[in-house]
Amino acid sequence: MSLLRVENLHRYLGEGDTRCHALRGVGFTIEPGRTYAIAGHSGSGKSTLLYLLGLLDIPDQGQIWVGDRETSRLTDDERTAVRNEHMGFVFQFHFLLKEFTALENVMLPMRKLGRLSEEAMRAKASDLLVAVGLGDKTRRLGTQLSGGEQQRVAIARALANDPGLILADEPTGNLDHTNADRVFALLSDIAHQRGQALLMVSHNPELASRCDQVFRMQDGVILP
Ligand SMILES: Nc1ncnc2c1ncn2[C@@H]1O[C@H](COP(=O)(O)OP(=O)(O)O)[C@@H](O)[C@H]1O
Ligand SMILES: [Mg+2]
Repeated sequence: MSLLRVENLHRYLGEGDTRCHALRGVGFTIEPGRTYAIAGHSGSGKSTLLYLLGLLDIPDQGQIWVGDRETSRLTDDERTAVRNEHMGFVFQFHFLLKEFTALENVMLPMRKLGRLSEEAMRAKASDLLVAVGLGDKTRRLGTQLSGGEQQRVAIARALANDPGLILADEPTGNLDHTNADRVFALLSDIAHQRGQALLMVSHNPELASRCDQVFRMQDGVILP
């Protein structure tokens, strides 16, 4: 079974004069342990698509299957539960809580899911920070980390609940070339090693081409 399957997705955004047919029939399948890039010019619908896949928004038409579950008729609470259990998010701006330590930031999604003891959450968060190369900085506050380090904490946080799917919107867009390269390599290695899937929006053609498959978007559709 596929990790994620979407069929004939349509989405309209805005009202009246600004109403826009942002997605015009998008379909594809995501398999575990593979990396995917969504590439395309600004305004082609990349973020709109990623929000739908992350169940943060609802399509006007079409289906989104997470495993064997079709999600379009779920309640908000059910959608949130599927998202917390199966998906991790990395955005261009990391949205760390700056007054919290790196460790506490990584523990947040585990607290939301509520399956582990305090001790187990700490141990797991610590392991994830080691995996992203920040084992020596677990007690630092967000404000005491560089931009690249903060983005790596955000990656560890996205992995907190062992999501099958990592969704990333321009995760390296805010980083210099060296850090962008490092953050991409980390995401890609983790996906391949752990059998998770990575779906990454990127305007960087060089990074996109290093993914196993590239979906090229134009005017709300994926080009064949
Ligand atoms: N809230 C909104 N209201 C109206 N149009 C929107 C809104 N958000 C996005 N759009 C339009 O939808 C299209 C797709 O946007 P988006 O998914 O953000 O593109 P991308 O991420 O590829 O730059 C664009 O034409 C954009 O102008
Ligand atoms: Mg965008």
